[in-house]
Amino acid sequence: MATRYTPKNILITGAAGFIASHVCNRLIRNYPDYKIVVLDKLDYCSSLKNLNPARLSPNFKFIKGDIASADLVQFILLTESIDTIMHFAAQTHVDNSFGNSFEFTKNNIYGTHVLLEACKVTGQVKRFIHVSTDEVYGETDEDAVVGNHEASQLLPTNPYSATKAGAEMLVMAYGRSYGLPVITTRGNNVYGPNQFPEKLIPKFILLAMNGKPLPIHGDGSNVRSYLYCEDVAEAFEVILHKGEVGHVYNIGTKKERRVIDVAKDICRLFSLDPDAQIKFVDNRPFNDQRYFLDDQKLKSLGWYEKTTWEEGLKKTMEWYVRNPDWWGDVSGALLPHPRMLMVPGIERQFNAPDTSNNDSAPVTNNFSQSRMLVPAPKNNLPAQKPSLKFLIYGRTGWIGGLLGKICEKQGIPFEYGKGRLEQRSQLLADIQTVKPTHVFNAAGVTGRPNVDWCETHKPETIRTNVVGTLTLADICREHDLLMVNYATGCIFEYDATHPLGSGIGFKEEDKPNFTGSFYSKTKAMVEELLREYDNVCTLRVRMPISSDLSNPRNFITKIARYSKVVDIPNSMTILDELLPISIEMAKRNLRGIWNFTNPGVVSHNEILQMYKDYIDPNFNWVNFTLEEQARVIVAPRSNNELDASKLKEEFPEILSIKDSLIKYVFEPNSNRKTFTGGLPNQKYDTSRGGSNDLSDNHEAPPGFGSQFQTVDEPVAFPVKRRPCGRLSITLT
Ligand SMILES: NC(=O)c1ccc[n+]([C@@H]2O[C@H](COP(=O)([O-])OP(=O)(O)OC[C@H]3O[C@@H](n4cnc5c(N)ncnc54)[C@H](O)[C@@H]3O)[C@@H](O)[C@H]2O)c1
Repeated sequence: MATRYTPKNILITGAAGFIASHVCNRLIRNYPDYKIVVLDKLDYCSSLKNLNPARLSPNFKFIKGDIASADLVQFILLTESIDTIMHFAAQTHVDNSFGNSFEFTKNNIYGTHVLLEACKVTGQVKRFIHVSTDEVYGETDEDAVVGNHEASQLLPTNPYSATKAGAEMLVMAYGRSYGLPVITTRGNNVYGPNQFPEKLIPKFILLAMNGKPLPIHGDGSNVRSYLYCEDVAEAFEVILHKGEVGHVYNIGTKKERRVIDVAKDICRLFSLDPDAQIKFVDNRPFNDQRYFLDDQKLKSLGWYEKTTWEEGLKKTMEWYVRNPDWWGDVSGALLPHPRMLMVPGIERQFNAPDTSNNDSAPVTNNFSQSRMLVPAPKNNLPAQKPSLKFLIYGRTGWIGGLLGKICEKQGIPFEYGKGRLEQRSQLLADIQTVKPTHVFNAAGVTGRPNVDWCETHKPETIRTNVVGTLTLADICREHDLLMVNYATGCIFEYDATHPLGSGIGFKEEDKPNFTGSFYSKTKAMVEELLREYDNVCTLRVRMPISSDLSNPRNFITKIARYSKVVDIPNSMTILDELLPISIEMAKRNLRGIWNFTNPGVVSHNEILQMYKDYIDPNFNWVNFTLEEQARVIVAPRSNNELDASKLKEEFPEILSIKDSLIKYVFEPNSNRKTFTGGLPNQKYDTSRGGSNDLSDNHEAPPGFGSQFQTVDEPVAFPVKRRPCGRLSITLT
């Protein structure tokens, strides 16, 4: 056995996270002679509160920064005379790695490489303890009786474990090539206080605490080995002092539990009926059956597991019950398949003095004076909430305007894009100045007074709808940004396999079958091309409706003004209900194509009847046929039903189109029936040829105002424009 190693100045990376916080707090408590410097970028899953027990100790220092910043790391090693590194910082959530694996490569492989290189350059580090995972071995057979020992082959199966294995290779190479004194650990799953609730045990505890269902991926037969955090912290204490350079140590337990049994145990702790509480959901892309370790080698150093499963689980449960708000709003993390939060740029914010403009600069040599070096938040959001900053295109448009109002109401910082979509350099400038976490594109050309305009303005339509949208998507991709794109559902029409009245709607994977108008043609083309961009969330909006009946873009306002209307059932989008949901979709980091309509269909006559019932009992209208309509429009219009089940599955609370119309549009407006009949005055400038918003202008026939006079001459409409307050629906 090697002689006992005594460190002086230890750099712990990732100690605002789960495991390393317990290691740091333990070392601070047990070894007042060691100086501990923590480097953590304060990612979404971290909390400075995890370090509360250490924060006031004179031998503790926190530096907010990224391990991938070579200058910062070298500076810290030199100025703090670091002789020991315990490297925990990583992206750790397997589910996230299926969606955004580049972040895992950047943090886990590149970040480790930067640390190793800094050790090589400074030449002063006597121990580099690299924290890896049991997942690098890949899955163990269900019936295997011998666990993976340290010399077993590495066969990672998911992007997370692949990056951890990749980092290990670099560690090994720096050990061999440059004689860096490295030790690697590979641990089983850890649980206990301070763990961000995207991970199984805290997630189940928080859900059970709130009486919500516990979602199990697949059938729950997967087996995991769980170690209590204090035992793991002790294992690191032992490895730090007694571990042998060049060796690998498994940190394991023989006690395994099936995921379904973990869920049942948690239900029992909360006196809940497991049969009623547990819900089986789709499995993740690959879910290893089991990770089984041979833990003898570490035992030979004198470490053994002290906490029983029952004891550890009870302590963990009690901690989460005592600290329900430790993480702030984590509703996104509690979803069955959380994809939110790990968005580049989203970091936790803390109310601490501003020491710098720059994440990588706030380091001082004065250890005792400046222990907490955290740049102050740049806005007044409550502490501990992940920071969001939206960049919205389409300021003068209907949807873009509403989005800004929702953000104001929800306290989400946002700015409107100044650049034109087709001007790459202007968009780049916007991104550099605004530094958004998400981009929303509600800009586009829809034609004024209707889409017929696009038939005679094809280059202008292509410039914005095709070139512009693709340029923005491309730039967002370069900057690792999610772009929520308000697209259209007017690229489908009823056909033989989706006949009118059948209830069979077009699905997200269906290819557009309607390119009759030039507008729809450009939209269908762009949607198809955007499928190649994995950073884009395409929302197929249709015939948008809002509670603001004075807005001429509103589908209801339009059809109520025509002298004749067709009567066909269609899918439609109630903006008051669905726009806040699009914001939630961005927070959840949802991507791909979504039919963004309320479930079901509603016909023109049904809407006008509601209008009559709720708003104006004197209102009447006249129908005409599609053939008659075709004679007075230039470009054909589409009618269709979109299948909204994907959206409904993600947001079960969404109302059917008819219920939503009543709740969000007609009931709120019916209370204000003070007018004498008639329709909203045209308050908007319709003189421009193109438009800047994305409501589909498919309804108004040409000659509007002459051949197609409205039923009543417009009169002043006493139904005030509703403030957008009601748009701030709280999503759970
Ligand atoms: N949790 C487990 O069950 C488990 C099991 C085996 C191994 N591990 C390994 O243990 C280590 C810690 O895991 P955890 O569960 O405590 O993680 P965690 O997700 O709770 O914390 C990770 C911490 O690293 C920080 N971080 C991430 N990237 C960074 C960067 N580029 N620069 C600076 N800081 C950065 C985050 O802000 C966070 O505080 C990881 O390396 C993980 O792979 C974890």
